[in-house]
Amino acid sequence: MPEPTRPALILEPQPLCAASDLAERGLAQVFDVQLWRQPARAFAMRFDGKVVGYLNRCAHVPTEMDWQAGQFLDQDKRWIICAIHGAAYEPANGVCVGGPCRGKRLHPVKMHEVDGQVFWSPDNDIQPVAPA
Ligand code: FES
Repeated sequence: MPEPTRPALILEPQPLCAASDLAERGLAQVFDVQLWRQPARAFAMRFDGKVVGYLNRCAHVPTEMDWQAGQFLDQDKRWIICAIHGAAYEPANGVCVGGPCRGKRLHPVKMHEVDGQVFWSPDNDIQPVAPA
């Protein structure tokens, strides 16, 4: 019996949005991905000029964190806040600095900005959604 073939990993950077779509500490771009072949979502935002990206999944309970679509930051736009139990994450590195999962971190998604376009990079864990 032939062995089932596994789809090849996609590692090429994937276009996400225009760089101008991500305002400093503004709304995040939320996008669909596959995490270990299961549907999941990730997000990208601009913080201190740099585009950062994470899986939209709290380190406390594996649930999405935005309190409204694309809204991840607290009122002062300093911390990423989980809407469920209030964990606070450092936007620059995804480390939980307060709340029930202190010391854990968000799953990072590598982001790049080239010629006015934002890309994300798939890896062994996070892959693009298969085309329909
Ligand atoms: S689910 Fe995020 S802090 Fe509990």
